[in-house]
Amino acid sequence: MRTAYAKVKGLEKPIQSPSNISGRLWQKFSQSLTGNDRFSAYLEPVIQMLLPAWAANSYRAQVINRRIENEQAFTLVLRPSRYWPAFTAGQFVQITVEVDGALVSRVFSISSSPQMFQKEGLIELSIRIQEKGRITPWLASDLKIRQWIRLSAPSGVFSIENTIKSAAQKASLPLQKNSTQKDEDTNGSAQSRPLLFIAGGSGITPFRAMLHEYKETLQVTVIYSYRGAAQSLFLSELNQLKTNFPNIKIHLLDSSRQPRMNASRLLELAPEVFGSAILLCGPPAFMQHTVKEILSLGVSKDRILQESFSSTPINAISSHYASVALNGRSDLSQDNFLAPTDERQIHFLLSQKTMSINSNNNDPLLNLAESIGLKPVHGCRAGVCHQCICKKRQGRVLNMRTQQYSDTGPEDIQLCISVPVDNVALDL
Ligand code: FES
Repeated sequence: MRTAYAKVKGLEKPIQSPSNISGRLWQKFSQSLTGNDRFSAYLEPVIQMLLPAWAANSYRAQVINRRIENEQAFTLVLRPSRYWPAFTAGQFVQITVEVDGALVSRVFSISSSPQMFQKEGLIELSIRIQEKGRITPWLASDLKIRQWIRLSAPSGVFSIENTIKSAAQKASLPLQKNSTQKDEDTNGSAQSRPLLFIAGGSGITPFRAMLHEYKETLQVTVIYSYRGAAQSLFLSELNQLKTNFPNIKIHLLDSSRQPRMNASRLLELAPEVFGSAILLCGPPAFMQHTVKEILSLGVSKDRILQESFSSTPINAISSHYASVALNGRSDLSQDNFLAPTDERQIHFLLSQKTMSINSNNNDPLLNLAESIGLKPVHGCRAGVCHQCICKKRQGRVLNMRTQQYSDTGPEDIQLCISVPVDNVALDL
């Protein structure tokens, strides 16, 4: 199929949006005739019968294998279509599949290395099955091997390079280099900085890509927390890396058997925390707790790059919010951390409904609206597609993607990544 795809000129790459006037007129003409912005998108199902790798304005991938990791997790092996762009270890993709007649999108970290993609043309997505989820059980059992699915370009800034560049710009990290490494350091070389990876649960997936990509050169300490073996991923693989590469130190913490990691335990496991660039990935509660513990040691937040995974059951646990370099922009420091008020009221103005939530409820507004029967427009549920934008009239929300708090006045927010921190009124 790849040969046939390559032979048809003009269908080799996804078609880009027209940017000139004639392009826009053509777009209007297409819209009036087919109800779609592009003829190519309208004809997509027919074209894909002949050229399954082709998509009108996206990429596609073929499912090559599904590997069981444990009772609750599996790895999808995908072969992206031709011209799918190169990626950096730590980035994520959005996949779209048809489930019960509806197109559903989710975002997952790429858990394999860029080297593997270069050599074999394959990528891996490692996914935890959510019992009550809509898509992960379907991906685990109904997605067919050799089936084609829609795949976005890789995205996200969660990478070793970005962490080091950001910290170097702040000139806050001691360099560990010899005279020949100078240029590499300036460019954010992965080899020249001590690194600390802290992962919780499925948050280990982007680190797996990084460890495989740079296993021979990284000076890294990995702290991986998980709740019982069934909730873990890649334990034997991590142990193998630890055995074969003395430059990689790995600490595995089963939180079902030992207390949650705090600042003193962190110092014990990684005394180099003060001189390291720190990458952090896991569920929001894990991230907030860990960041507070790190900051309590006096470590600068400029040294931390974090990636948050959704913890709400309806979202795939591997769905995650795009990466956020703290870079002084975050409100997560102890000084300005805003805890939700005890009870919050959400007013859905157009539907004339109100709900109350207690202090333990940190669900995003999309889930809250759905829990009382509303059906807001949405797509990825991960802050990527922007389909869930809604006007907030009043109240403060925490954007889980940027870790920024909103003002109290009117503004557009993304429902799927906005958590109310006080009473909120929405045009919904
Ligand atoms: S549903 Fe995609 S950004 Fe909210």
